[in-house]
Amino acid sequence: MAYPVTLIAGDGIGPEVAAAAQRAVDATGVKIEWHPVELSAAVMAKVGTELPENVLESIRRDKVALKGPVTTPIAGGFKSVNVSLRKKLDLFANVRPVKRLPGLKTRYMDLPIDMVIFRENTEDLYSGLEHEVVKDVAQSLKIITRYASIRIANYAFEYAKANHRHKVTAVHKANIMKLSDGLFLRCCREVAAQHPEVTYEEMIVDNASMQLVMRPETFDVLLLPNLYGDIVSDLAAGLVGGLGIVPGANMGEEIAVFEAVHGSAPDIAGRGLANPTALIASSVMMLRHLREVEAAERLQAAIERVYAEGKTLTGDVGGTASTEQFTDAVIAALA
Ligand code: NAI
Repeated sequence: MAYPVTLIAGDGIGPEVAAAAQRAVDATGVKIEWHPVELSAAVMAKVGTELPENVLESIRRDKVALKGPVTTPIAGGFKSVNVSLRKKLDLFANVRPVKRLPGLKTRYMDLPIDMVIFRENTEDLYSGLEHEVVKDVAQSLKIITRYASIRIANYAFEYAKANHRHKVTAVHKANIMKLSDGLFLRCCREVAAQHPEVTYEEMIVDNASMQLVMRPETFDVLLLPNLYGDIVSDLAAGLVGGLGIVPGANMGEEIAVFEAVHGSAPDIAGRGLANPTALIASSVMMLRHLREVEAAERLQAAIERVYAEGKTLTGDVGGTASTEQFTDAVIAALA
């Protein structure tokens, strides 16, 4: 039986890294029936909406998607397709494992960095509720609900328990946003109290940023509202070698969309320079989700072997290989 998976190549470096991930997954021998759908800045302009119905239909039918990045116009234009997708499909948990890769030279290469970020994915300042109160005065509404906060906290604690993680750190700014972040924090405390076997701590987001840079090895599971989760994910990626390597998953009750943390990287798009590790590693998460655990472990081991050898790496992590050459090396390492 082949697993149906919607494939969204996206735009910018998306098509390059999506092709690489598709090849790597196929090379594991797991049978996937890929259903490619188009989603890009160009498609949005053509159809007049950020999220065409056929894309939603395909993901709802397949229940699993692998997605490349999609460009969002800055300070105007269409809404973020990523935010719309997560909201429309109720993909409430954004899960991002941040781990050091063997052999990869980074500023922090001597530290055992291994954390998982849980970012609430449907509300906060990403609710898209903005308006101009009067000329030159703009307002964005930050929405925090008990429902969404309890849901992401439950997800993070359940994950911690199932994966033998020992500590959850809730990150907030409840000293200033006493109502909204205060509610998020109260929900985290409530869920933490139901899981006494997992250590629970709280950290204000500015301090958390400093601690992540100074002592990244002390973090285990991070639990954050949407905006802080977005920012801290990129910061954490920087600790282990950059955006080219950190994978991610957007999880709903039934639907899962796997995508890297990085964006469409217009500065390097179309030149064969992009590092596909992040999306290939997102595919590893997808294979686990499909319960193809052996194939997932083989693919992860192949990525790690290529990094440990250090001969066929892309430019962002100090090598000279192209996207394709790196992917070929991973596929060769699978054997
Ligand atoms: P970005 O993540 O695209 O790029 C930031 C920096 O990291 C750039 O220097 C880029 O070259 C580098 N980089 C990113 N991925 C890389 C890879 N795989 N290999 C090598 N280098 C890589 O962030 P930026 O420039 O802020 O955003 C560009 C566009 O992407 C924006 O329109 C943004 O809205 C969109 N975006 C989309 C996301 C998604 O579809 N999930 C997520 C984040 C941003």
